Amino acid sequence: MAINNKSFSLESIVRPNILALKPYRCARDDYSSGILLDANENSFGMVLPDKSSKENGEQEGESLSSLTLKIENLNRYPDPNQVNIKERLVEFRKVPNINYIFLGVGSDECIDLIIRIFCIPGKDKILITPPTYGMYSVCANINDVNIIKVNLDVEDGKFQLKTDEILKVIKEQENIKIIFLCSPGNPTGTALSHESIKIILEDENYNGVVVIDEAYIDFVEEKNKNSSLVKWVTKYPNLIVMQTLSKSFGLAGIRLGISIANPNIIQLMNNTKAPYNISALTSQVAYTALSEQNILNMKSIKQQIRSEHTKLLSSIKNISGIGKILGGNDANFILVQILDKNENISNDRAYNVYKELAENHGIVVRYRGNEIGCEGCLRITVGTPKENEILLKKLSESLA
Ligand SMILES: Cc1ncc(COP(=O)(O)O)c(C=O)c1O
Repeated sequence: MAINNKSFSLESIVRPNILALKPYRCARDDYSSGILLDANENSFGMVLPDKSSKENGEQEGESLSSLTLKIENLNRYPDPNQVNIKERLVEFRKVPNINYIFLGVGSDECIDLIIRIFCIPGKDKILITPPTYGMYSVCANINDVNIIKVNLDVEDGKFQLKTDEILKVIKEQENIKIIFLCSPGNPTGTALSHESIKIILEDENYNGVVVIDEAYIDFVEEKNKNSSLVKWVTKYPNLIVMQTLSKSFGLAGIRLGISIANPNIIQLMNNTKAPYNISALTSQVAYTALSEQNILNMKSIKQQIRSEHTKLLSSIKNISGIGKILGGNDANFILVQILDKNENISNDRAYNVYKELAENHGIVVRYRGNEIGCEGCLRITVGTPKENEILLKKLSESLA
């Protein structure tokens, strides 16, 4: 039987901003199985082959099956500094040394840490540019930090920064400590112009950090001039670049996020994190994933995803009931408008199609109609050829 302590009242002791939180909801809360095209994971799987290529009679490569042999010593805490993974990242991402790298439990941990480091609850603010990734706001709310919004230029699905407006807000508003920019954007699939990011980084009215979330950076075409900004971290002490193994490396399940910045910022992040935040299991998989061979695997899977992306776009355009394709081609998903029977953009229809795909056909996509500039939109992760074929068929049927 519960013991009733009359002086205990849960609601009266919880921080008011926490009490006011609404649980973060995503499509996976409602639908968790079937063809999962809702969370921009890597539909082609992990970059780690099931068997080492040696077992296939070829040259040796690091694989999942070789890993299982190393899953021992779990009675010991993992390396608090994860030096081995950082050394591989230094090579791969061309970072000067490991002091420029922080590892977190997904980028989501990095977002929370950066807010906790720079923002005083109830006083400081972050600036975001909707439509954008939802966790910047969720973490700000958890930390009782205000959110200032300067929408992207959504006209014609451009989804670029309104730089002048951002500069104006920075000048007028006190206590903005962090600007979160997502490039390539989620849900926009568009890489932001480096020119506009440079203007913000160099603005003399701004005394805060600029975070560039590059979760989808490996999907950007090599010739695109707005690819990774890691190369700028030695130049700008106020720049933090976030990356993750959740997308191009197909390892969302291990939760490994990366922040790259000036060592002074990285030191603050290390001082703030829990001592052993990266588990030994995650660490082994991440280290293996970053071998030369597996980076080549990642690049080859990325090419397949890019090619499926192109095919998916060209087929989806021809389905009646599909409006414009918004945003760019810089990530592993597409953003498409759904029209009603009168050819008007329709949130209701988009939501019904989302539900019908999930409930009748086991295909889970993400409804994004309530985001700024995304009216009537579904965001669809590029699947395998088979998954895309089923998606196109069922989407045509739903819209017929
Ligand atoms: C833009 C963006 N940043 C970060 C994340 C989360 O990354 P992680 O899995 O490393 O926490 C996502 C996941 O969808 C994302 O879309």
